[in-house]
Amino acid sequence: MGDAVALNVVILGPPGAGKGTQAERFARAQGLPKISTGDILREAVQSGSELGHAVQAIMERGELVSDKLITGIVRERLDRADVSAGFVLDGFPRTVPQARALDEIMVGRDPLIVVEIRVPDEELVRRVRARRVCHSCGANVSAFSADPSRAARCEKCGGELVSRADDSEAVVRERLRVYWRDTRPMIDYYSGRTMFQAIDGAQSPEQVRHMLLTTIAELAAGTGTATQPEAQP
Ligand code: AP5
Repeated sequence: MGDAVALNVVILGPPGAGKGTQAERFARAQGLPKISTGDILREAVQSGSELGHAVQAIMERGELVSDKLITGIVRERLDRADVSAGFVLDGFPRTVPQARALDEIMVGRDPLIVVEIRVPDEELVRRVRARRVCHSCGANVSAFSADPSRAARCEKCGGELVSRADDSEAVVRERLRVYWRDTRPMIDYYSGRTMFQAIDGAQSPEQVRHMLLTTIAELAAGTGTATQPEAQP
């Protein structure tokens, strides 16, 4: 038997598409690290590091941090040993230069599987405006498993629930504008590839989870990569 093929997954989509929600569950079920560039940057802001100071205002305006900076972060992260069986990338790449840089990083590694989650803009705005996150542990309070307007405290740690700094209506609209300007062309960069597939994200989280799992399994079959059936929640 040959060496196992790593399961290298990229989940793309606009703000609020459910990338983070689905990446978290898929990565956990497969025992792979989830690498979210948004989470990495928010942690840097929260910790008050030099990186955090450099990116805070950019994120709060709904703009993208520079390709050079974010590519350096991802390159360093993908050099760590825990990605040897694969990884799930959430929020990267987001521009054509980032996608090209990822292709360079992947030279000599197992292939990428790229899945785009598609959701109409108005549903995205509704989801993002409804989102609450825990100020202490960063947990996302799901707009469908709890009524965020009634939930006063985080179920995991009891922390205060707040809106994300970039989730105001004006900033969400700016993030969507940036998405259509900078990220949508990058999706065209992938769309001709056999390892790319788009799925309909305007369904329940369970339906999206199922479709994502099926799609990744089909794409992975082309590479000889095995996916594990997801454990029931
Ligand atoms: P990032 O954190 O990546 O933000 P985003 O792409 O705008 O995505 P979101 O986190 O808003 O949404 P999501 O698709 O993960 O959806 P979620 O699962 O949370 O980036 C933040 C910022 O960092 C950027 O604006 C930029 O400044 C910077 N940055 C990050 N990466 C960068 C890069 N590569 N280059 C440059 N800059 C970068 O779901 C959203 C809500 O909907 C939740 O409340 C959830 O519970 C709910 N929900 C999920 N699925 C469903 C469903 N099926 N039905 C109903 N509700 C649902």
